[in-house]
Amino acid sequence: MGLSIIILAAGRGSRMKSDLPKVLHKVAGLSLLGHAMQSALSLDPDRLIVVAGVGADLVAAEAKRIYEPVEVVVQTEQNGTAHAVDQARSLLADQAGDVLVLYGDTPFVSRETLYAMQAARRKGADVVVLGFDAAHPDRYGRLIVENDALLRIVEAKDATPEESAVSLCNSGVKWANRACLFDLIADVHAENAAGEYYLTDIVGLARAKGLSAQVVICAEQETLGVDTRSDLTRAESIFQHHARAAALEAGVTLVAPETVFFSHDTHIGRDVVVEPNVIFGPGVTIETGAVIRAFSHLEGAHVSEGCQIGPYARLRPGAELDRDVRVGNFVEVKASEVAQGAKINHLSYVGDARIGAEANIGAGTITCNYDGVMKHRTDIGPKAFIGSNASLVAPVKIGAEAMTASGSVITSDVPDGALALGRTRQVNKPGLARKLMGRFRAIKTNQKG
Ligand code: UD1
Repeated sequence: MGLSIIILAAGRGSRMKSDLPKVLHKVAGLSLLGHAMQSALSLDPDRLIVVAGVGADLVAAEAKRIYEPVEVVVQTEQNGTAHAVDQARSLLADQAGDVLVLYGDTPFVSRETLYAMQAARRKGADVVVLGFDAAHPDRYGRLIVENDALLRIVEAKDATPEESAVSLCNSGVKWANRACLFDLIADVHAENAAGEYYLTDIVGLARAKGLSAQVVICAEQETLGVDTRSDLTRAESIFQHHARAAALEAGVTLVAPETVFFSHDTHIGRDVVVEPNVIFGPGVTIETGAVIRAFSHLEGAHVSEGCQIGPYARLRPGAELDRDVRVGNFVEVKASEVAQGAKINHLSYVGDARIGAEANIGAGTITCNYDGVMKHRTDIGPKAFIGSNASLVAPVKIGAEAMTASGSVITSDVPDGALALGRTRQVNKPGLARKLMGRFRAIKTNQKG
């Protein structure tokens, strides 16, 4: 049976008080839309359609970034959820199989829950609705169920006091046959308190036609929809809670889990130790047994087995560290490959560089990679020794087992095994220090008198 998935993402999201379309706000480094698309893609659908509205260009760009084959339709006026789904009618006119409707502002619907909906459809339910028991049903549509069958959905604004007392609520997620869904939507009218075309009406309409409707229930957290900045914070905290638990379960030591923040795509191997206050931005992989020490910030980085990072280290996109590399305090590494066993232990900036195996980069070393217009590369050979406080002015190549003297400004290539001194020679003036100090003290005494 074919499957098309429609993600509704046209809403204004005005309660976010933001210039950014609501679905582009991020949780764990990925847009809400991205999370919803990942849920959708976990079912391997034949078609994936995003209904965009407010900020459609930005929403379409994000959708394409995540999944190039996505199709985007624009709902120019937000006339309700049924109207939003209807925007995909002509795109799907000849499509066989089912349609699943998801919301772009609801990031956590799990694959398992979607499988349960699929199973309910396969067992013969014509319309399957995802519901949850709400702790505070307030604004949600209520699911009116009798003898396990779903009779209708009543929006909060239209509910009688008796219906309002029901705590089983509508998540918005729905699954039905494509032709059946669009036939039902054609019969939806905007005769309700909000004057909108409610997708929820398809349940009552289906029942009136003698079709069946069924509820699949999931945990309330999965259906969390983001309407406000507070919801966004809550979503972040739910994500982090699960990510920390999953890391611990996978054999990662988190010394203070509540201070570690993961991204949606962080990969961490077993026996990795993460000290307190570490932040993983998107695109980080940490291999087995590495130690990430306190207050480090990593993003777009690959850290191999046995590496020690931090405390207070910053790995930026393109930091590719081979086994047993050490990156110490106040060191920033960007777009650089660092080979096995190399050490950058203190106060350095390494950008657009390649550092050979077992090279030692002394304290305060800076790769001067940017001339104000272009970026240039620094290439440091294996077992090279860069003395402290060196400026390596790129493009520049330091040979294998070469040395640079501390405080050097290295502007030209250093051959293998050579020592480069890029500073003026030291001169000692015997007795001059005492003589100078005597003079200074005398001046001070005279001024006081
Ligand atoms: C909807 C449901 C309600 C359910 C709740 C769960 C309807 C009529 N009501 O109400 O039963 O309990 O979700 O959160 O379906 N959207 C569009 N275009 C529109 C209108 C909405 O794309 O014209 C999108 C929004 O961007 C959002 C989703 O549909 O992603 C839900 O819309 P929203 O207006 O938030 O519906 P609720 O009032 O929350």
